[in-house]
Amino acid sequence: MYYPEELIRQIREKSDIVSVISRYVPLTRKGRNYFGLCPFHGEKTPSFSVNPTEQFYHCFGCGAGGNVFTFLQNMENLSFVEAVQQLAGEAHIPLPETELSPKEKARIARRERMYEANREAARFFYVQLVKSPYGAAAREYLAGRQVSETYLKKFGLGYAPISRDGLSRYLMSKGYEPELLRSACLMGGDESRVYDRFFNRVMFPIFDVRGRVIAFGGRVIGKGEPKYLNSSDTELFNKRKNLYAMNLAKKSRRKEALMVEGYMDVFSLHQAGFDNAVASLGTALTPEQAMLLKRYFEEVCLVYDSDTAGTNAARRAIPILEEAGLSVRVLRVPGAKDPDEFIKANGAQAFEELIGKAMDPVDFELAISDTKTLTGQIETMKKMRERLMRISDDSERELHIKDVAARLGISPQTLARQVEEERRNFGTEEYRKARQTMIRGGKDRSGDGPEQTQTQLLALLLQYPNSRGVIFAQVSPADFPQNMPAGEEKEPRENIFHRAAQYIFDKRQERIVAADLINLAEDEKDQRRLAGVATQELPKTKEELEKLAVETIRRLRQATLDEQLRRASQAEELQRVIQQKKQLESLEIHL
Ligand code: GTP
Ligand code: MN
Repeated sequence: MYYPEELIRQIREKSDIVSVISRYVPLTRKGRNYFGLCPFHGEKTPSFSVNPTEQFYHCFGCGAGGNVFTFLQNMENLSFVEAVQQLAGEAHIPLPETELSPKEKARIARRERMYEANREAARFFYVQLVKSPYGAAAREYLAGRQVSETYLKKFGLGYAPISRDGLSRYLMSKGYEPELLRSACLMGGDESRVYDRFFNRVMFPIFDVRGRVIAFGGRVIGKGEPKYLNSSDTELFNKRKNLYAMNLAKKSRRKEALMVEGYMDVFSLHQAGFDNAVASLGTALTPEQAMLLKRYFEEVCLVYDSDTAGTNAARRAIPILEEAGLSVRVLRVPGAKDPDEFIKANGAQAFEELIGKAMDPVDFELAISDTKTLTGQIETMKKMRERLMRISDDSERELHIKDVAARLGISPQTLARQVEEERRNFGTEEYRKARQTMIRGGKDRSGDGPEQTQTQLLALLLQYPNSRGVIFAQVSPADFPQNMPAGEEKEPRENIFHRAAQYIFDKRQERIVAADLINLAEDEKDQRRLAGVATQELPKTKEELEKLAVETIRRLRQATLDEQLRRASQAEELQRVIQQKKQLESLEIHL
């Protein structure tokens, strides 16, 4: 933390978490807390809670949690410092410029510079396209594809020259460091030789939601391989988290987004008046992209090419979008390969009519299934049960069941019974657990692993300030390991619980607002861990609390002592540790 703790607290206190979150999520009060639909995962019943006294949020569904800074960080993709700056600005609290650490300052400056380099590159490509004689072929190509001047400008299309080092030389002459240009995926090569990442291609700048250039897609002019070349992921660009043209589509007044496959499809649709079109960036649709859509739209119409690849992509995308809480329809473009070609051939009005006829997911599944042969029918039945089970509204589900049964030639009662059974399985504890673990990105958090032990003990210390003296007589912050075990991540990383323990220790008996505890963490995962401490349910009775204290202290101390045993080289030292281990067995805590 590079601003003084006191200042951060002042900003946090002026920025009420309930009102900040309400800008994004409708919240309703229930008892002491507020509840709403979690903006970080899709859900139909609210499990996202905001605690106004402790000034933090927590989602019981996906485990997301943090304070007002964390929320903005995740919602707006900001760094901690940027979130602090934004809220300080809103609260009219001046921030000292000098309080940033050199490291943080350098990081912010580097990102700024990379955004700038991308913008310069886009401008360079644009000038090459519209002004340079070398851009003639590209201009002709785009004219042939009926690209209007207005939309060419709006999308910032460009041309990467054939010279192979034109952009690199230009940007370096402007003072951009080669290393930065390489990291930004604009330049390749090494010290001895530089070359442009993109050459002789029509360039599509990729903007983030806020309208900053973060990457590029480049298309060959005419035929050639690869048809499209995209920036790899960089410090600014994560292709799984962005959607092409979302910066424009977010301003659309339409309720339904059009999700298409290609850059050119997006372009044609916008040009034809469909300013709600977006595309994923050369990957299958991701949950992150579905969340992004959910921030601006309630409904999504999948517009996929009518080939097998397109059909499969649509099938995979449907559950991802539904998980995000979006309603989905599917549109198959008839007679033409993709929306771009369809519009060119039939006009915008015809496309508008097509949208009107988009299918709901059940009809789509039926339409692409084989219902002619017996094996086909059995396979289809299976898929339909899967599909129907997911419809949460009872009457809607019933209507679909009747319809599907009629079309498959079976009795609605039989189908209804089977679907109910699937639903029961779907709703079982085990299934839900698996799903939550999936959403949290891996490991289950329950049980008595080291993480859970530390969470429980810290929760006790946080929630019962009077217990601190007694507990810290038996266990010290040093018993909370400095580092997390190096697991999936290659490097061992700091254990945030260690820092939290030290913080609570230093506060003695003072009341600690959860939001301030969360502030100890810069990393998103760590913030969740600390929010987890604040929401950790503790037993109600004194006896149970004491038992919990004994168990958790024992586990922590044992680990420390085992480590000391391993390191001990002298007999007395061994003796002392063994003695302490013995004492641990008869440990008692009286709160
Ligand atoms: P046009 O042929 O210009 O109309 O392109 P399109 O937008 O119709 O593209 P297409 O349907 O062939 O492909 C859909 C999307 O997949 C493109 O917009 C790209 O994002 C991606 N894509 C297509 N070809 C390639 C390729 O060769 N390499 C990579 N990385 N991505 C590709
Ligand atoms: Mn196309």
